[in-house]
Amino acid sequence: MLAVAVLAAGKGTRMKSALPKVLQPLAGATLVERVLASARNLTPERRLLIVGHQAERVEAQLSSNGGLEFVLQQPQNGTGHAVQQLLAPLQGFQGELLVLNGDVPLLRAETIDALVSTHRSSKADVTLLTARLDDPTGYGRVFADAKGRVSGIIEHRDCSDEQRANNLTNAGIYCFNWEKLAEVLPKLSTDNDQGELYLTDTVQLLDVAMQMEVSDPDEVNGINNRRQLAQCEGVLQQRLRDHWMDEGVTFVDPASCTLSEDCSFGCDVVIEPQTHLRGACRIGDNCRLGPGSLLDNAELGCDVSVVHSVVRDALVGSDVAIGPFAHIRPATIVGDSCKIGNFVEIKKSVLAAGTKVNHLSYIGDAELGANVNVGAGTITANFDGKNKHLTVIGEGSKTGANSVLVAPVVIGKNVTIGAGSTITKAVPDGSLAIGRAKQLTKEGWDRNAK
Ligand code: UD1
Ligand code: CA
Repeated sequence: MLAVAVLAAGKGTRMKSALPKVLQPLAGATLVERVLASARNLTPERRLLIVGHQAERVEAQLSSNGGLEFVLQQPQNGTGHAVQQLLAPLQGFQGELLVLNGDVPLLRAETIDALVSTHRSSKADVTLLTARLDDPTGYGRVFADAKGRVSGIIEHRDCSDEQRANNLTNAGIYCFNWEKLAEVLPKLSTDNDQGELYLTDTVQLLDVAMQMEVSDPDEVNGINNRRQLAQCEGVLQQRLRDHWMDEGVTFVDPASCTLSEDCSFGCDVVIEPQTHLRGACRIGDNCRLGPGSLLDNAELGCDVSVVHSVVRDALVGSDVAIGPFAHIRPATIVGDSCKIGNFVEIKKSVLAAGTKVNHLSYIGDAELGANVNVGAGTITANFDGKNKHLTVIGEGSKTGANSVLVAPVVIGKNVTIGAGSTITKAVPDGSLAIGRAKQLTKEGWDRNAK
């Protein structure tokens, strides 16, 4: 039997944030969600999350994570005190307890699997993950013999200079024999620099403690401050880009681009510099994104180009050109072979295939049929100060430059709107509508003749 417990009760003082540390985001997911995901391959009988600082907020974030038991630690008197809170809920439990620090988000599931199986085969009372770090500052130091048997862990701040020179560090990830741990947990003392109960002190109270060193030290990065948060973001982004390059995506300048884990790409996609994808983006074959674009929850067909533009919560067909400098806002659907050009904003609108909005337009709350040509500077006046209204433009219609379409308004098919018109009434199919003052010309007018 296996139980997994994640320590997530700490405040994260060193982050200097109003947000509890374990809720800080990293490539689109919170630290604690990432830690929970690293144990996804195991099928534990119990999953417990120790919460304390802003417990309600942490619980709310994880409420959809089924089968999680929340255990309150109040006050937060150290990692050993946190695990002491499990004595009641795990009373009578037999088997292993995997303890994961809630601020170690880069662990691979395979590493956790290996820790548990190593522990099971060695029959130690505890097996803990360690890493040799070039800069071990801040981490607990692990003292072990050549066979991997651990005699103790000393926190950085409690180490002598000589002890600090040891760069074998504690990752904060432990597989315990629960019954043995339960015996020693009540014996912890606060005899250390922070005056807290340290989980690491259980190691010397247990008979047999073993360590397992990870090969990739990046995996055990712990996050205590914003610098470490940024370093971990860098590691994750690198992993994501490497993965997609292996899958056939070209990055012109990889380091300048960021992705979320929920993105997917077709074949021969090219990502130009300074381009960022957030949320769940689906990008079809041969798309060219950037330079300088932001896509958030965007779904693109094949052969779409997006240059210096923002596309958010939108569905775009194939063979579409977007930008430069376009803003496609939520609930927009752009059909195949459309063109959205310079300085164009589109919100909550549907554009059927072949429609062009090439220059300086705002299209909001609108339905445009196929092959509509929206003239430069056309605006849908969708807001009357209180409510938003719909503009409909039938297929094959063309609006003149600088048209204002005052919604609600329906423009039929194959309509032509004269340049500079303000359209307030429905226009039937196949007509020309002009809504502007007639030009007045006074011949022979000499402005100096007075
Ligand atoms: C801890 C380890 C250290 C290890 C490092 C790895 C101890 C005493 N030290 O140090 O050996 O090298 O992690 O990253 O365990 N937490 C609670 N309740 C508390 C205190 C903390 O739930 O009362 C949680 C925090 O939310 C956090 C985790 O435990 O997720 C670790 O706490 P933190 O204070 O960051 O420990 P470190 O000083 O990093
Ligand atoms: Ca930490």
